Amino acid sequence: MLPTKKLLPSINLLLNQARHASTKPKTGIIMLNMGGPQKVDQVHDYLLRIMTDRDMIQFPMMQDHLGPWIAKRRTPEVMKKYEEIGGGSPIYKWTQTQGELLCKQLDAQCPESAPHKHYVGFRYVEPFTEDAMQEMERDGVKRAVIFSQYPQFSCATSGSSFNAIYKFYKKRDLPKDLKLSVIDRWATHPLLVKTFADLIRKELDKLPADLKQDAIILFSAHSLPLKAVNRGDSYPSEVGATVNLVMHELGYCNPYQLVWQSKVGPLPWLGPFTDDAIKGYVKQGKKTFLLVPIAFVNEHIETLHEMDIEYCKELGEELGVKDIYRVPAPNDHPLFIDALTDLVKQHLTSGVGVGNKFLNRCPHCVNANCLASKKWYSEVCLNSIKAI
Ligand code: FES
Repeated sequence: MLPTKKLLPSINLLLNQARHASTKPKTGIIMLNMGGPQKVDQVHDYLLRIMTDRDMIQFPMMQDHLGPWIAKRRTPEVMKKYEEIGGGSPIYKWTQTQGELLCKQLDAQCPESAPHKHYVGFRYVEPFTEDAMQEMERDGVKRAVIFSQYPQFSCATSGSSFNAIYKFYKKRDLPKDLKLSVIDRWATHPLLVKTFADLIRKELDKLPADLKQDAIILFSAHSLPLKAVNRGDSYPSEVGATVNLVMHELGYCNPYQLVWQSKVGPLPWLGPFTDDAIKGYVKQGKKTFLLVPIAFVNEHIETLHEMDIEYCKELGEELGVKDIYRVPAPNDHPLFIDALTDLVKQHLTSGVGVGNKFLNRCPHCVNANCLASKKWYSEVCLNSIKAI
């Protein structure tokens, strides 16, 4: 017998529910990053959150007062920079693209954990880390991979994002049936190395033969205050590891140097700084440079403004050097998407919830958040192990 009109809505409802159930994500991938303002009017709040995050930056005193004051003072200058790159950061757009491509590949390659769904969790701007966790809970995900989008781990960046998840669950219960695990660092992943090598090779190939041979490859990463380095932050050594593997992959084709950018404030930071290194090499008679954003996986203010405008253009003009080029960030490079896929795939089958290195604090860590956070991860992650 054909269904009556009265019955049709409930059949539709059932069909919708069935459709929804079949696409309900089984595995959630939370992609952590600091984020960037998509609109210039978000700049102030973005800076305020950074300046008052004691996991990211520690002022010797009065951070609750100094942080907001510095954020307010820096807002106009930073807004101008975002205007100059088109009115906002593309980091959300790229992270979304990477997440969609990643989950598509995971669905095809790992049917046992499919459907996979990515959640973007930014630390200082929407969509926030806490919102990503809530959305994932609402979706009823039972298996979640917390995946840092910083290949090289720093307590200031990756550490702050992981601590934010701990702080979020300090105030609410973690669903009992939700199994968590962590990908905290992947500086030496072979496909990440191949991605950078391919991007560098393509950029070198655009140069005439004489310039190509003389070009100095400057691997430029965000710097850190020396206080953090001396505390034992593993970031400098992990960035160095990526650089060495990339140059190995390239057969050490050109001279190269690891340099550091984006220093802020008067305190000493890890150098040599990118602009100073270019000036130094120019004094030595070098004329061709290729900048590589080795610790950035997508374009944002540090690549589009600092590298492209401040170094390649303005510094080049100041020094009378026209051959300063920049390699694109990995963005949606197919090898990079393969790297993300391989990382999650290997991780899901490894049965490892959280690594020893993540649980081991810096030798001179005095941050109570790190202590409590690492203890929490050691307890709640899949196959929990003791925090060290
Ligand atoms: Fe590195 Fe706390 S500062 S673990």
